[in-house]
Amino acid sequence: MTHHLADRTQPATPAAGQAAPAEAHSARELTPDWWRGAVIYQVYPRSFADADGDGMGDLPGIRARLPHLADLGVDAVWLSPFYASPQADAGYDVSDYRAIDPMFGTLDDATALIDDAHGLGLRVIVDLVPNHSSDQHVWFRQALREGPGSTMRSRYHFRPGKGESGELPPNDWESIFGGPAWTRTTDPDGTPGEWYLHLFAPEQPDFDWNSPEVREEFRSVLRFWLDRGVDGFRIDVAHGMVKAEGLPDMGRAGQLKLLGNQQLPFFDQDGVHEIYRDWRTILDAYPGERIGVAEAWTPSEDRTALYLRPDELHQAFNFHYLNTGWNAAELRRVIDSSLDAMRPVGAPTTWVLSNHDVVRHRTRLGEVPGRDRAASLLMLALPGSAYVYQGEELGLPEVTDLPDEVRQDPSFFKDNGQDGLRDGCRVPLPWTREGTSLGFGTGGSWLPQPASWGELSVEAQTGDPSSTLELYRSALAVRREHPALGAGSGVEWLTAPEGVLAFRRTAEGGAAFVCAVNTNDVPVELTAGLAEGTVLLSSGPYDGSGVLPADTTVWWTA
Ligand code: NOJ
Repeated sequence: MTHHLADRTQPATPAAGQAAPAEAHSARELTPDWWRGAVIYQVYPRSFADADGDGMGDLPGIRARLPHLADLGVDAVWLSPFYASPQADAGYDVSDYRAIDPMFGTLDDATALIDDAHGLGLRVIVDLVPNHSSDQHVWFRQALREGPGSTMRSRYHFRPGKGESGELPPNDWESIFGGPAWTRTTDPDGTPGEWYLHLFAPEQPDFDWNSPEVREEFRSVLRFWLDRGVDGFRIDVAHGMVKAEGLPDMGRAGQLKLLGNQQLPFFDQDGVHEIYRDWRTILDAYPGERIGVAEAWTPSEDRTALYLRPDELHQAFNFHYLNTGWNAAELRRVIDSSLDAMRPVGAPTTWVLSNHDVVRHRTRLGEVPGRDRAASLLMLALPGSAYVYQGEELGLPEVTDLPDEVRQDPSFFKDNGQDGLRDGCRVPLPWTREGTSLGFGTGGSWLPQPASWGELSVEAQTGDPSSTLELYRSALAVRREHPALGAGSGVEWLTAPEGVLAFRRTAEGGAAFVCAVNTNDVPVELTAGLAEGTVLLSSGPYDGSGVLPADTTVWWTA
């Protein structure tokens, strides 16, 4: 038994400017609830494909490679930021929310990309960064020029320092990238002035969401992109915009360790929900179910569910799942608690294994052969929406030996290279076996690719039934054929041996579907009656005997 389903011998060829039939666009608008079970593919624009040969990915590059995504079978594409930005945090420092950074292309390129994607049946979600801007944003520069007490300063968190001459930060908050969350300004006359808050890098000043101008500006930015046809927004630091009244001290150091575990005065404040209720009315005013996806680090799944009440956002990333190890009992616990938490608000659960901020899951799960593939098939069998990070469909590992001089992650410079390094998951994709930057572009690549990645390229894997790319293509094809896979809000757990997860899903009036995952490093004989029916797909070789090999997932239909 191989996992190969369809015969795919043709590589997805670049086709810039592919036709975008108008009827596909209108069909898309008619599909209700398209997002509930959608597989959403994250494109990291710097590293996807480079059309102009400058070593940096760009929008025309993405556009040319859209057929790869359509062929893969995903439902939507989420694009990390491509806006005008000095790139202090790889584009998460935006200096103009309505402009494209020249490094990535033009506004026309963006609209052409959206139209082409729609023509291929793909929806487009763009990143929105509302917690902070770049320090080069016109508002922040003007705020610095206008000085203390000015209206412009009320759009950010400017405060006088503590200590005799204001030489100490206004409170004890720490930046996520290390060091104090405050930087002191210099007044127009050259003397030391107020401090400003930045939960991330100093180049990323936090907006003050008490300001009506900030609120109005983001309403307008939402409409700007909705008018250009985007199907939704991934909201960066969605839990961060509102800070506790008076910016109270934390009273302790090492605050980073508390992220996602504990209530903090700068994260997950109740006031943030008012913003999403406001945004929801804007999203709902457009046809075709435009969605909001929260990147929300909260202390519990129940707190995350609050962002997904029917009049707020649609989905949130499930970081609790991403952070769970390869352990059947723990996985079952987090799957249950994730599903339970979303039920009261009626939102779909989401699942994610990799993104541009974490170590790629193949490496995180220990580089054990087949384990990443087994994890992927488990994720894709769960009810709800799944997020796939570019390159995971190729089984790319984390690049762990990047030389210091090529690194760009701001946390590297703060932490002296000790932790928080995110460059290793951002290395440009290999498209071809050979050639300059393995088909990424005609120039080099902004981070060096391991030479061995030629064999992991789209070209090398296409048509090879044992490849991870064909496994993803097959899995997504099965998901389309069996809508029960992404639908619903629960799984029926089946009795299974130690270290094995097994569950059944049944579509309304449809066939039953069974998924079993062996997390053990040895083969396990499945409980009688479990391995019945037709094998749909397996993450590795499976002979149909009922003995599930180590680190393997199998899907059956009854
Ligand atoms: C989360 C983004 O995913 C990350 O890349 C970025 O550094 C921070 N938010 C700050 O915008």
